[in-house]
Amino acid sequence: MTGDEASATGIALIEPALADIAGFEEALTRGWSPDPRRLRDRTYVETELKMLRHDRAAFLARLASGDVVATSVPDRKPQRLILQPFWIWDGAFCGYITLRYLSGTTQLPLNVPGHVGYSIVPWKQGRGYATRALQLLLPIAEQAGFARLSIICDESNHASRRVIEKVGGIFDRRATDPSDSPDVIKLLFWIATGSST
Ligand SMILES: CC(C)(COP(=O)(O)OP(=O)(O)OC[C@H]1O[C@@H](n2cnc3c(N)ncnc32)[C@H](O)[C@@H]1OP(=O)(O)O)[C@@H](O)C(=O)NCCC(=O)NCCS
Repeated sequence: MTGDEASATGIALIEPALADIAGFEEALTRGWSPDPRRLRDRTYVETELKMLRHDRAAFLARLASGDVVATSVPDRKPQRLILQPFWIWDGAFCGYITLRYLSGTTQLPLNVPGHVGYSIVPWKQGRGYATRALQLLLPIAEQAGFARLSIICDESNHASRRVIEKVGGIFDRRATDPSDSPDVIKLLFWIATGSST
């Protein structure tokens, strides 16, 4: 075990709570973007910060409120995504990992980037935290009824790909998202929830 992996064993997934929201706020003030698709979008980060400071409880509630999306199951109406967000915690805020799914199906449309989203604040990256957080999420997903999860990353996101592979992700296919640029190649993986260590 490397030193970084050793420190990652101390991390936990905690439910977002008002009592701990100062860490999220501080991360935004330091320029962290919670949306991996808008990593360098200052306006987005500043807008998030404004919303958090305007109404902390509403901001928190929004983290667990999914968009309505079209389903990939024929004859099913658009449905609201169910979100189970967790903050990655080493005694302080490190980032988040979210489980997302549609009720009654393991399928997701391709414009929803898989069952799992995560981000680590830049100053805590490279310590094994995302890898550990994904390991910790697997039994939670199993509890929610998933035998396996779909995980997607951009082909250019080598760190995320590595995280997925380290936790046992099995490569499925490359694809493009019809709602994104055709130049952005997505890598689709499956990961068995029973494979956590
Ligand atoms: C992707 C991300 C979550 C990884 O978080 P992290 O806590 O730094 O990841 P870990 O420390 O657990 O592991 C990273 C692995 O990727 C490797 N890695 C990191 N940067 C890399 C790079 N640029 N190229 C190749 N591998 C890289 C690390 O070496 C490590 O692998 P190793 O243990 O074999 O050495 C983080 O970079 C991040 O938040 N990025 C922005 C948001 C994002 O892209 N989210 C994922 C969307 S799919």
